[in-house]
Amino acid sequence: MTRIAIVEGDGIGHEVIPVAHQALELLHPEYDYFPVDVGYGRWEQTGCPCADADIAALKTADAVLFGAVTTPPMRDYQSVVLRIRKALDLYANLRPVKSDGFDILIVRENTEGMYSGIEEIGPDRATTLRVVSRTGTERIVRAAIRCAGQRRGKLTIGHKANVLKSDVFFRDICIAEAQNAGVEYNDKYIDALGLDILQHPGAYDVVVTTNIFGDIISDVSSYLVGGLGLVPSANIGDRYALFEPVHGSAPDIAGKNIANPIAALRSAAMLLAHIGDQEGAERIESAIGTVISSGILTRDIGGSAGTWEFGEAVLKALGNCP
Ligand code: NAI
Ligand code: MG
Repeated sequence: MTRIAIVEGDGIGHEVIPVAHQALELLHPEYDYFPVDVGYGRWEQTGCPCADADIAALKTADAVLFGAVTTPPMRDYQSVVLRIRKALDLYANLRPVKSDGFDILIVRENTEGMYSGIEEIGPDRATTLRVVSRTGTERIVRAAIRCAGQRRGKLTIGHKANVLKSDVFFRDICIAEAQNAGVEYNDKYIDALGLDILQHPGAYDVVVTTNIFGDIISDVSSYLVGGLGLVPSANIGDRYALFEPVHGSAPDIAGKNIANPIAALRSAAMLLAHIGDQEGAERIESAIGTVISSGILTRDIGGSAGTWEFGEAVLKALGNCP
């Protein structure tokens, strides 16, 4: 039986994930859905944001649907998302940003780089070690090349090799792999790439980059499609897979029933495509399209519908599909 772990997490995770969960239940009542409670709320209650048993539970799932967790900028608090991505070795973070006239897939290295977790704060100096390994780079660029092969066959390598030796290393390995695979490629400095994606989104197909650059560039690129409420992501490893909106727990709007559930719904669609139900994935996407065209929009994209109102409209559209 297909097992799906449902992690709401914190903040608007409690609002957008139930919508996406309902959509999955509607399409696949036969799946086994089970909740896993991790995050800052859990830490406040128990002193532990994510236990070993939670990681073990996530590993029993065929796929994880994840909301977002709050990570307070405290010295001794370990990020739950980073822990899960590392524990499940979810090395490829795929972030599609698409609309009329452009279809970009950002492929972000997800386990090392600036988020290696090797860091310390001293009295007068703090350091974070940026780790770029050959294995880590080869596997992420190969994943990006596979994606390009299923798309328009164009790879852009985003880096800062003019300043960072670790990115000379990253860029050179990416170029060698691209040449090996015979894929069309170019490379760009990440800061210039950030602007160019906004100015010429149609020029891009697959963009591969290191961890923090991919994090930033995907939030920035979400501007092209109406903001963070719309962009989903997949975190894929060789054994496990987790699907989550690009956005975080949005404490500024949490509990107000105004969060946009589209990113969560699209993450659920990516989950279905990953476990082999491409048709279900397309049904979710087309239901979202139907609701948007009918003028039901959440506040972040110019409407006044609440999270649940939008969600119910999507569920209704899904139910009406043949
Ligand atoms: P955020 O993505 O939560 O919010 C940024 C802005 O976008 C806010 O103004 C928010 O209201 C808006 N927004 C986000 N999602 C939205 C939605 N679905 N509908 C409408 N508006 C939406 O990022 P922020 O504020 O930097 O971080 C908040 C917390 O989330 C932090 O504790 C951070 O560490 C955590 N975070 C967690 C992530 C994860 O679990 N994967 C990813 C990013 C941040
Ligand atoms: Mg981010």
